[in-house]
Amino acid sequence: MNIKFIKNSLPTSDAHIIFAYEDRKLSASAQKIDKETEGLISRAMEVGHFEGKFGQIIDLVAPVNLEINRVLVIGLGEEAKLDEVKLQKTGGKIMSKLISSGDESISIAADTPKESNISGAEFAAHMAYGIRLRRYRFDKYFTKEEDNKKPSVISVSMMSTSAANAQKLFAELDAVADGVQFARNLVTEPGNVIYPESYAEKIKELSTLGIDVEILAEDEMEELGMGSLLGVGQGSACESLLVIMHWNGSDNDDEQPVAFVGKGVTFDTGGISLKPGAGMEDMKFDMGGSAAVVGAMKALAGRNAKVNAIGVVGLVENMPSSTAQRPGDVVTSMSGQTIEVINTDAEGRLVLADALWYTQDRFKPKFMIDLATLTGAMMIALGQEFAGIFSNNDELCENLTKAGQEVDELVWRMPLSKGFDKMVDSKIADMKNIGGKYGGSITAAQFLQRFANDVPWVHIDIAGTAWKTESSDVADRGATGYGVRLLDQLVRNNYED
Ligand code: BES
Ligand code: MN
Ligand code: ZN
Repeated sequence: MNIKFIKNSLPTSDAHIIFAYEDRKLSASAQKIDKETEGLISRAMEVGHFEGKFGQIIDLVAPVNLEINRVLVIGLGEEAKLDEVKLQKTGGKIMSKLISSGDESISIAADTPKESNISGAEFAAHMAYGIRLRRYRFDKYFTKEEDNKKPSVISVSMMSTSAANAQKLFAELDAVADGVQFARNLVTEPGNVIYPESYAEKIKELSTLGIDVEILAEDEMEELGMGSLLGVGQGSACESLLVIMHWNGSDNDDEQPVAFVGKGVTFDTGGISLKPGAGMEDMKFDMGGSAAVVGAMKALAGRNAKVNAIGVVGLVENMPSSTAQRPGDVVTSMSGQTIEVINTDAEGRLVLADALWYTQDRFKPKFMIDLATLTGAMMIALGQEFAGIFSNNDELCENLTKAGQEVDELVWRMPLSKGFDKMVDSKIADMKNIGGKYGGSITAAQFLQRFANDVPWVHIDIAGTAWKTESSDVADRGATGYGVRLLDQLVRNNYED
């Protein structure tokens, strides 16, 4: 699909989109169609109780004398309250309505809203961004899809008086969308396609953007003493890998990096503590944290962000076999701390323990943020709307919360405390890998904190947000790519030269 920004404002498409604000106030850019259509639109607004509220849509078949097939009138709500997220959502709504409508071309009468802080360029670029995000579809394995179910939209013309500036702004957003798309693809691919080795190969593709990709094999991790991560993969025929991505975008080579760490369990059967069969196929998404890290690195490099950033992902497959680790096994992590593995299904924290320790030890980053589909309990607590964050640093939490609101990838801070920390003490080792019956997401985070070594750190549990069972405005149901936009925005707001 091709998106272009043009000044021309005469609709020459199959579907033409115009906008209205509250109280049926058509945007200035909308009033360029012929009289007959204008008459139809005002009638349709009355008949359809359309007030211009955010999200309201009128779908009008165009009069026969026009070349266009249809006109959509979309409500944007109060003009003064328009923001980037609303524009992205509106772009998504347009795409979800038209994707398989049969219409091939869309023209959009982008506005320059006088009464809001949004510029004409921002209006057009953020709407186009939403359109692109919602267009994503994972259909490579369909061999018999009927033509009328396939996407029909080929081109989008965003008609804006600020076309040139919109194009420039969109180029950056487009790079972030590339990262989101990369992450969604990785998460949606099944476990027989994405396993540690094939995954690492995919990550190597990022070197064309200027990212250095380093891969540590099992023998190198053994030498580093990563018994915690290696224990998880020891039942799998796949070799475990640690992949390190370096993006040096800052003008100052010595600038301390920011670091992102991801759980990359390419399939989680639970190991010897085997999961029940029903729904186990979902556990292909257990590398969603790592995919967010990879996607964010791609976004930063793609838009040439002026920051030094490190991405570290632990890639392992958690399988039951005669070589798998047993419940009760004790492993020694790279930090030197020992862990009693009570439940082999609490494997994500074992992977992150070594990945986090390695990251702070080698890179001395400004901060570390880890992302992981870590606990089912997180979905119980916050559903699919918010990811939980756990941290030893208030400022980082505030920055992350703000970035999340700006890109609509929301986070909610959860507590850490001495009492919860005690719950992961073991009778025979320094700690055990599960807590008690309650507070499972928190005890998992307490476990991780023991490997952050007092570096400013946030753990983001994305178990509920990485995969959605219902579609949202900017993503069909399935992999969301959650985290890519969040991390990009955090960097954009706070950590660029
Ligand atoms: N990958 C899962 C967490 C998960 C489960 C995410 C379901 C999304 C949906 C993780 O490895 C896991 O199995 N966690 C266990 C921990 C328990 C054994 C302490 C869980 O949440 O049940
Ligand atoms: Mn598990
Ligand atoms: Zn898992």
